[in-house]
Amino acid sequence: MENVEYNYIKCQVRKLVGVDLNCYKTPQMQRRLKAYLARSGYPNWPKFFRAIQVDPVELTKFKDYLTINVSSFFRDPAKYRFLQISILPQLLRTQPYLRVWSAGCSRGQEAYSLAMLLAENNSLDYRHQILATDIDHSALEWARAGGPYTTDDVAHLPPNLRLRYFEIQQNKYWVKDELRQQVMFRQHNLLADPIAGKFDLIVCRNVVIYFRPEAKESLFRRFHNALKTGGVLFVGGTEIVPKAADMGFETVNVSFYRRSNNQARLSTPAIKHLISS
Ligand SMILES: C[S@@+](CC[C@H](N)C(=O)[O-])C[C@H]1O[C@@H](n2cnc3c(N)ncnc32)[C@H](O)[C@@H]1O
Repeated sequence: MENVEYNYIKCQVRKLVGVDLNCYKTPQMQRRLKAYLARSGYPNWPKFFRAIQVDPVELTKFKDYLTINVSSFFRDPAKYRFLQISILPQLLRTQPYLRVWSAGCSRGQEAYSLAMLLAENNSLDYRHQILATDIDHSALEWARAGGPYTTDDVAHLPPNLRLRYFEIQQNKYWVKDELRQQVMFRQHNLLADPIAGKFDLIVCRNVVIYFRPEAKESLFRRFHNALKTGGVLFVGGTEIVPKAADMGFETVNVSFYRRSNNQARLSTPAIKHLISS
């Protein structure tokens, strides 16, 4: 794709969809855009953008596609096991009720997995605060409704939790109200919106894979600021926090980073230079 064409698309997407494509990796995004246009049946981008301006359904579909929302309950069960047996007990030792944020929660599978673990850990005591955010409005609507989820979505869900927290209707799974009410869903763009509050646990998994390195680093620094000292960041199985120690994180295990007491070190050479001069 020519630069001029990509610049035009980025500009239209920012204006119409509210997503800044500069924060996403260029080759992957260009491939996805080309595939979408080919499938949409429009001969070129100007016609496509004109169409989505008058068709909110098409606009939402395009936004959903750009932000990719594949997920499942207890995605990566070994990591959730580590969370359950090691991280949560440590966090709960210092305070009985936790503030947890599922950032990029998709249709709610991740947030409800966390809510189930916390409820189980605290003998069904529901006083934890669980915030779940995503950029994608339609995924959030799904999450708030508590379903319907498919058998693939619940494939890693332990049977006892499935029985306790879900209702089955026509082969689809619905989260019971009791659990649904534990999670607060909000729309939030991780690349643009401010982060308010301090958390014990931030879970941001399989969201930053398409972000450019600078956007990723800036987000991890903001997560660090949003964690209480001793709080933990839980990332996706293939993701690492670059320069974690410089940011003030201590690596607990693969995918788990704890905010240490140390202040974040300044790592940008330009800033170091300014300070030493
Ligand atoms: C692949 S899903 C991951 C869902 C869940 N965290 C998991 O690991 O199963 C990625 C989610 O990130 C959301 N997302 C992408 N860009 C985002 C942004 N800039 N701000 C907030 N959410 C974003 C997408 O809408 C999508 O729901």
